[in-house]
Amino acid sequence: MDIKILHIDSNNAILMRQLQELGFENHEDFTSSKEEIEAKIQSYQGIVIRSRFKIDKTFLDKATNLQFIARVGAGLESIDCDYAISKNITLIAAPEGNRNAVAEHTLGMILSLFNNLNKADREIRSGHWNRGSNRGHELDGKTVGIIGYGNMGKSFAKKLRGFEVDVLCYDILENVGDANAKQVSLEELQQKSDVLSLHIPWTPETNKMVDATFINAFAKPFWAFNTSRGNNIVTADLVAAMSAGKVLGAGLDVLEYEKLSFETLFQDKNTPEAFQYLLKAENVILSPHVAGWTFESHERLAQVIVDKIKAKYFGEDKIAVDEKRVTGIGGLFFKSKNAKELVAWYGKHLGLKTDDHGSTFWWKDSKGNDCSTQWSPFAEDTTYFEPSEKQFMQNFRVHNLENLLLELQAEGVTIVGEMESYDYGKFGWILDPEGNKIELWEPIDYIFK
Ligand SMILES: NC(=O)c1ccc[n+]([C@@H]2O[C@H](COP(=O)([O-])OP(=O)(O)OC[C@H]3O[C@@H](n4cnc5c(N)ncnc54)[C@H](O)[C@@H]3O)[C@@H](O)[C@H]2O)c1
Repeated sequence: MDIKILHIDSNNAILMRQLQELGFENHEDFTSSKEEIEAKIQSYQGIVIRSRFKIDKTFLDKATNLQFIARVGAGLESIDCDYAISKNITLIAAPEGNRNAVAEHTLGMILSLFNNLNKADREIRSGHWNRGSNRGHELDGKTVGIIGYGNMGKSFAKKLRGFEVDVLCYDILENVGDANAKQVSLEELQQKSDVLSLHIPWTPETNKMVDATFINAFAKPFWAFNTSRGNNIVTADLVAAMSAGKVLGAGLDVLEYEKLSFETLFQDKNTPEAFQYLLKAENVILSPHVAGWTFESHERLAQVIVDKIKAKYFGEDKIAVDEKRVTGIGGLFFKSKNAKELVAWYGKHLGLKTDDHGSTFWWKDSKGNDCSTQWSPFAEDTTYFEPSEKQFMQNFRVHNLENLLLELQAEGVTIVGEMESYDYGKFGWILDPEGNKIELWEPIDYIFK
């Protein structure tokens, strides 16, 4: 195999070692400038990055042989994704690798702040035994509002399962709520929440999203936590709300003032006033963009990246079970002359447990999760299988449909229509080379059990 990969950031050693073992040629360059890397990038088929610099149009135009960009992290915001996809470059990220870390860190910040752990610890170390001023708050009975219900948001909500809290989520995508969080409008979240946790990407819409107007729309004073991106909060407005008692406390793993590379804090030498306030405030807990940065995630991120690169070049048999594109058969749908009678016949003679739509078979995957497969006759004149000429359509269960559709698009597979979201999961459609429509389903099984 003649695939050369350029690594421009240091990562866990397993990344390089395993790629080497798979036969990829790996080169490291952790120090050259963006321009110097641009001058040689045409010799590479792959690049592995963390956050050293932006992969923009100029860079991509020089990367004439690039087949993939792998980011050892959760998001791809440092990459011009649309332009990369238009050049058939596969984009690989590893949110599976650090979502648990972010969830635990967020919970840790909440519990530390609620119980004054950092403050009390500092006080005792300096000889003060203050019990009255260190009385804590409990999460029990509170409402936690999560904004951005993707990898990190979902993982955080899962961690809250053992607490007696109401968990709400708000997301621009419809039907992303699950058993761990009820999806509501932003207004409802602002009406009910005692704790706000941000898990949104940094986009033009989320940039400075949490400002004075946003904060004032909360009905009650609340605690605010941000492990997403610093620029999603206007720190000066947050600080003003803290002074006014509207924000009761804040846990910030990310700051407006950190550089895009996350490696240093300040854009300039002056310490902004709002930041000086945060540094002095007792009801603030800060960490240096490390929510997703545990020993475990360091390795897991690298492993996810290797698995995904391996999957790209070696196909199904080498893909780790978690990363399989198709995880099971979600349904078999076929045209019939009289669907109602057919369903009744299968119920009577083959004992299928039927309803108006057919029959649902329940099974467990290798991790013991409940899964279902649907068997359904459709009307003879159904248009649901179009443009397929076949009388039947397969539905496959998949992981992370959104990413998969991006990858399939990059591989030149025909996508039919737009992805759609319902209570029971997300749906997308593709064509096989014979023009048969295939339904892809990222399921939420418990909804219709
Ligand atoms: N602090 C850390 O160490 C750390 C580690 C990992 C991820 N992150 C950050 O966490 C954030 C979430 O990452 P993820 O992997 O869960 O992303 P994701 O794409 O899986 O989920 C983000 C969710 O936010 C939603 N969203 C986008 N714009 C929105 C808007 N305007 N309003 C409401 N919802 C919106 C999306 O629809 C999506 O469901 C990102 O900013 C990422 O960079 C930080």
